[in-house]
Amino acid sequence: MLCQSNDELKALVTEAKTCTKNGKVADYIPALGKANPNDLSIAIHYPDGRCVSAGDIEKRITLQSISKVISLALVLMDRGSDYVFERVGMEPTGDPFNSIAKLETMAPGKPLNPMINAGALVVTHMIKGNTIEERFQRLLSFIQEMTNDSTISYCEEVARSEFETAHLNRALCYFLKQHNILDEDVEQLMDLYTKQCAIEMNCLDLARIGVVFAMDGVDPLSCKQIMPTDVARICKTFMVTCGMYNASGEFAIKIGIPSKSGVSGGIMGAVPGRFGIGIFGPALDEKGNSIAGIKLLELLSKNYSLSMF
Ligand code: DON
Repeated sequence: MLCQSNDELKALVTEAKTCTKNGKVADYIPALGKANPNDLSIAIHYPDGRCVSAGDIEKRITLQSISKVISLALVLMDRGSDYVFERVGMEPTGDPFNSIAKLETMAPGKPLNPMINAGALVVTHMIKGNTIEERFQRLLSFIQEMTNDSTISYCEEVARSEFETAHLNRALCYFLKQHNILDEDVEQLMDLYTKQCAIEMNCLDLARIGVVFAMDGVDPLSCKQIMPTDVARICKTFMVTCGMYNASGEFAIKIGIPSKSGVSGGIMGAVPGRFGIGIFGPALDEKGNSIAGIKLLELLSKNYSLSMF
């Protein structure tokens, strides 16, 4: 059974919205602090092009960590999985997304997975291109292809706000540089990474990206293979094991949908073989995931039996 109408979704949004009061908007990136904690919107994109949605769906959000799964797909295509996994691991950490702890205690210099900040910085470092601008444009074009929307760009205010305050991410970069995992200028890498995280779109576009992952890398509308099946499979696996950070285990048990969250309050979900989901709800729980977004996915998964397990 599938969710068929906007009204069905609207009822779930109304129910999930009651949680927003228990969450808090991220403000360690100052520009994100301006978001309205009561917002909640969702879109579901089916492979046949149908889309159901509810909430303020025109609002645009920055991808933040959701971009990590997309940059990973690009880099796997650019470099191949052997090259990538020599430099970043495949294991969940159980630590917060910005933790530096395991870099020192586990395998010095090699981040445990591409979904924590340290791993994502290494992935962004691996995006091919001669200049920061060229590397960013390649990532943006990839996203524009997935969403079939050539107007998608990034929010300069959010990128600048993160660039000016990302001291912890800079510290991760210098640690990685010391261990020869990175060999580029840290300020340049931070420029690229903060623009990547500030790419913005609404939840309809996010759901459209979700459906590409759900359909094994094929855009179901154009039938074009945007990324190899194997790349989509690796990304979805990381979404299950690390996509919701140190809440991924509980999320897999309670919801069972490959998903990736970001501190802007976005969640991109890919129900394998079925549909893509885009959610925007900026009030976060203590682990940095959208509190009402998780509630909404819990309701959806239960009502429509969406768990893949
Ligand atoms: O690097 C950062 O801290 C942010 N640009 C992204 C972090 C993030 O979205 C973690 N998500 N839950």
